[in-house]
Amino acid sequence: MLTCFNTVSSSNSTPITVIQLNDFDKWLANQSIQIKQWLTTTQFCAKSGAFCLLPDPSGKLSLVICCIADADDLWGVGALPFALPEGDYLLDIPEINYSRFAIAWGLGAYQFTLYKKPSRPPANLVLPATCQLAEINNLVSSIYYVRDWINTPTDNMGPSEFAAEAVKIGKEFGAKVKQIVGDDLLLQNYAAIHAVGRASDDAPRLIDIRWGDKKHPKLTLVGKGVCFDTGGLDIKPSSYMALMKKDMGGAAHTLGLARMIMQAQLPIQLRVLMPVVENAIAGNAYRPGDVIRSRKGLTIEIGNTDAEGRVVLADALAEAVSDKPDLLIDIATLTGAARVALGTELPAMFANNDDIANAAIHHAQRQQDPVWRLPLFSLYRDMLNSTIADINNDSASSYGGAIAAALFLKEFVPDDIPWLHFDLMAWNLKARPGRPQGGEAMGLRALFSYLKAWAIR
Ligand code: BES
Ligand code: ZN
Ligand code: ZN
Repeated sequence: MLTCFNTVSSSNSTPITVIQLNDFDKWLANQSIQIKQWLTTTQFCAKSGAFCLLPDPSGKLSLVICCIADADDLWGVGALPFALPEGDYLLDIPEINYSRFAIAWGLGAYQFTLYKKPSRPPANLVLPATCQLAEINNLVSSIYYVRDWINTPTDNMGPSEFAAEAVKIGKEFGAKVKQIVGDDLLLQNYAAIHAVGRASDDAPRLIDIRWGDKKHPKLTLVGKGVCFDTGGLDIKPSSYMALMKKDMGGAAHTLGLARMIMQAQLPIQLRVLMPVVENAIAGNAYRPGDVIRSRKGLTIEIGNTDAEGRVVLADALAEAVSDKPDLLIDIATLTGAARVALGTELPAMFANNDDIANAAIHHAQRQQDPVWRLPLFSLYRDMLNSTIADINNDSASSYGGAIAAALFLKEFVPDDIPWLHFDLMAWNLKARPGRPQGGEAMGLRALFSYLKAWAIR
């Protein structure tokens, strides 16, 4: 399932000259008549991602050129793994920028091969001995995992299968992995997670991973793990349900981020809490109008069984804050409204603390892994008022739905715990260089970069 680009060196690797657009004319002026003529013949047009295969006099491939907009334009090389002929290549790029381009190449080389044989292998990038090989492989392979988990249909990635992946990752790095499954959720005061997941044949559960030294700063990740979201009794129309195998994307992101942290041995005391359920329909499904007593003690009126993510996160967040982490991050495919506001390719970020928000945005920009902050606009809190319970999971208005959902979560997070909440798509509707269609890790390179700095601040 998991394949990553390798680093086997070879004496006949084809060099790829990467040229910034501003430098193109200067580069061209220094080329031979033959090369100039070939670029004219093939009507080469210098723009980001444009590439050309250059033959030697015998007609063999001798050089590839690839244009990038500027030194930060990592996606300029993202299409090469499947645009170039199979074989080994070397990137000619300044060493300081090497890692990000190697990562873009690696991400562009991804294929989901569980059910279909790939038509060809990607072109292989040969990495120089001087590059940060461990970190490149860590980021690329962790993102491959995230994509694989999201792409795998619920039939093979239900709550128990996702839990098995968490156990496998935990074992690999010597983490403690605990699960509270099925009716034990009720015995241990997780009624909200149980209510959402109880109608599925595959029992609901809370996965709890702990790793790292107690002397390090405490980070807790919480991920929405709805392995399939039918909408529940408030059933989704088929076009809205079609992609809902990806509704465990938040949990996949937190598990992938945990893998990055553990593999890199960041000085962090890590906890990962993933409520993992299937929002299914059966005679015992939770209903509109039900009231659930959540772990925090707040009662939740179910206005809509399709707003299930915030319900399972309520219990997970209540547990997450019980041991006062120094930083709390949750990641969820929480609302369609966030996609209406920002589109599918830009994750929404909410924060109860400007310093951490600004730091996260800084790293997102540096890593070309964008996020956009939306406000926890408290005036909208009354959209969640319930006449019979402390809060309603459905908003009275269809406007501002991503903010309403974030305000719902905020009820379960004390103001003195620095908290980031991500509402994201976890899916590429269309392919772009380095970002194939299908399951996608969004904002994870940004978060890893931020956490590396946070851990040693
Ligand atoms: N999983 C969905 C949200 C979603 C849909 C994320 C499409 C990304 C793409 C979530 O559980 C949901 O259905 N939310 C509802 C909430 C509403 C009923 C208040 C929504 O956004 O419509
Ligand atoms: Zn839903
Ligand atoms: Zn959902």
